[in-house]
Amino acid sequence: MARLFQTPELYHGLGSIEELKNISGKKAVIVIGGKSVRENGSLAKVESILDSINIEHCIVDGVEPDPSIETVRRGAEAFLAFEPDWIIGLGGCSAIDAAKVMWALYEHPELSFDQMKQICGIPALRTKARFAAIPATSGTGTEITALAVITDRAKGVKYPIVSHELLPDLAIVDGDLCKSMPSNITANTGLDALTHCVEAYVSNINDNYADVLAKGGMELVFNNLETAFNEPQNGDARQNMHDASCMGGYAFTNVWLGIAHSLAHQIGAVYGIPHGCANAIVLPNVIRFNAKATDRYNDLAKVIGKKDAEDFAEAIEELRSKVLVVGSIKEFGVSQEDWYARVKEMSAHAFADACTSFNPRVPTLEEIEQVFNCCYEGSKVTI
Ligand SMILES: NC(=O)c1ccc[n+]([C@@H]2O[C@H](COP(=O)([O-])OP(=O)(O)OC[C@H]3O[C@@H](n4cnc5c(N)ncnc54)[C@H](O)[C@@H]3O)[C@@H](O)[C@H]2O)c1
Ligand SMILES: [Zn+2]
Repeated sequence: MARLFQTPELYHGLGSIEELKNISGKKAVIVIGGKSVRENGSLAKVESILDSINIEHCIVDGVEPDPSIETVRRGAEAFLAFEPDWIIGLGGCSAIDAAKVMWALYEHPELSFDQMKQICGIPALRTKARFAAIPATSGTGTEITALAVITDRAKGVKYPIVSHELLPDLAIVDGDLCKSMPSNITANTGLDALTHCVEAYVSNINDNYADVLAKGGMELVFNNLETAFNEPQNGDARQNMHDASCMGGYAFTNVWLGIAHSLAHQIGAVYGIPHGCANAIVLPNVIRFNAKATDRYNDLAKVIGKKDAEDFAEAIEELRSKVLVVGSIKEFGVSQEDWYARVKEMSAHAFADACTSFNPRVPTLEEIEQVFNCCYEGSKVTI
C-alpha cells in the first residue's frame, strides 16, 4: 500500500530563525500568544527580518493557552482586513494552532467550526496565503503536524482539527527561542514530546519512516531533557529538545498516538493538568498495559540501554521525577471522592477518543478504568 509522508520546508538549528528571510511576499501577519516572544526577543527578530525583505507586517496577539473558537474568529477578522500573503505562527503551540485555524477561516470565511472538526473537513488552502511556523516550546511538533487543537469553552471540550491542509509550508526549529521557557514548561512539554515518540513507535499503523524519527526523538529526550531543565541557557540541550519535539511530531502526525493521549486528554480537560504532565503520569502504566500485546517497547528499551518494557517504564518514571513532574493524579491534588465520582465518565470519553483506535492493545472500557485508577493511585498496572 502506498503511504504518504509529508513535510514542510524545514530549517533547524540555533539561529535558524534567520532563514525566514527566504520567504517572498508582500504582507505578513504574525500570530503570538502573550508576552514571552516579546520578552525573549524573537518577535523583534521576526519583525526586523520582515522589514529587511520589504514585507509589511502586523501582529495578532493575545492567543491564550488552549485557544478558543472566539480567539480564532477574532484573528481571522484581522486577517480579512489586512489581507496577508504569509501567516507566521510564533510562540507556543497554542499560538501556532490558533494561527492555523485563523488561516483556514481567512481562506474560507464561510467555514463552520462543525465542518472543520470533521476529518479532512478543511478545503484547499493557499489561495490567499502560505504559512510559516516558528515554535518556542519543545513539545507538540505543531510546526510539522497536520493538526490544530481548538477549545470550545462553552462545552469545555478540546477539539483536534485534523487536515493535511494545515501542514505548514515552512517550519523553523530554532532552539534559541526556547531558552526563556520556565523549567516546569520545559519539563511538561519535553515529556509530551517523549510520549509522542513512544506512542507513535508502538502505533498499530507504525511505519518505517516514523519508526526512525520516533526512536531518534526519544533518545534525544532521554539525553537532553534533564540538562535543558537544569540549564535553561544550554543551547545544545535546547536545540536537541526542539529537534526531538519536531521528530516526535513527524512520527505521530503520520501514524497517530495511543491511549496515553486518550487518558491525558480527559485529565487535562477535567482537572486542568498540563498536557505533557498528564501524559507523563499515565505513560508508564500504559506501557505496562500495552506490553501484553506488543514487543515493540523492547526496541525502545534497547535504545536507552534497558532490556524490556518494565525497565523502560521505570526509566520514564525516573526521568519524570528528575524533572519534578508528579507520578500520580492524586499527587496533582485531585481528591479520592472527586476521582471515583468521575472516573467512569472519563473512561467512556477516553475509550471514544480517536487515539484509542491506534493503540497496540485493544482495551475494553473496564480496562481503561482500571488503568486510570492505577494512574490515580500511583500503583503499577498488572492487567
Ligand atoms: N497541533 C498539534 O500538533 C498539537 C499536538 C499536541 C497538543 N497540542 C495542543 O497544544 C497546546 C499546548 O501547547 P504548548 O505545550 O506548546 O504550550 P502553550 O503554547 O499553551 O504555552 C504554554 C505557556 O508557555 C508560554 N511560553 C511559550 N513559549 C515560551 C517561551 N519560549 N518562553 C517562555 N514562555 C513561553 C506561553 O506563553 C504559555 O503561557 C494544547 O492546547 C495542546 O492540546 C497540539
Ligand atoms: Zn501530546
